[in-house]
Amino acid sequence: MNASTKGAIVYCSRYGATRQYAEWLAEELKWPLLRAEKTTYEDLLLYDTLIIGSSVYIGKLLIKGWLKANNPALGDKNVLFFIVCGTPASEREQQQTIARTNIPHDLIGPDNVFFLPGRVVISKLSWRDKFMLKMGARLQKDPAKAASMRKDVDNVRKEHIAPILQHATTPLEVI
Ligand SMILES: Cc1cc2nc3c(=O)[nH]c(=O)nc-3n(C[C@H](O)[C@H](O)[C@H](O)COP(=O)(O)O)c2cc1C
Repeated sequence: MNASTKGAIVYCSRYGATRQYAEWLAEELKWPLLRAEKTTYEDLLLYDTLIIGSSVYIGKLLIKGWLKANNPALGDKNVLFFIVCGTPASEREQQQTIARTNIPHDLIGPDNVFFLPGRVVISKLSWRDKFMLKMGARLQKDPAKAASMRKDVDNVRKEHIAPILQHATTPLEVI
């Protein structure tokens, strides 16, 4: 991607972790920040590069439906994804499953999906999300993982966007 690239960040977030990463990316790249819920097929035609971010709830990306609906507008663009979730980098296989089951296959490249660590503040969750998290912890067989699901966690840090920035600002090779 080069200086003439016209790019934007599109995101979907429930409690703000993904929004925070999206805002940092928009600030650094000086690209517009678009909420997926308000971004139409026609809006996407203005850009040739999109960085698309979403969090994960019970294995599903919040942006999954939007991706499916807008897939035809995305096929001929440079797309990068960032997925904000609780699944750590050490669980690579599970991370890959999240990508494979949520992103249309034609949009997944060899190195265009990034995973960023998220945030859970239990007191701020909706009744439904608190309940789902409690159920998840109860069904979790690994006691350490179950305990971690009963506590707040905040791993949202600006430094985590560095690989995405690097990828987005690396000129494409001209063959
Ligand atoms: C009810 C609930 C379910 C979740 N399910 C998953 C999940 O299936 N996989 C995962 O990796 N993270 C899961 N998470 C973690 C969220 O993806 C993480 O907290 C993320 O930072 C939320 O970002 P947001 O505030 O932008 O929505 C879950 C969190 C909650 C509260």
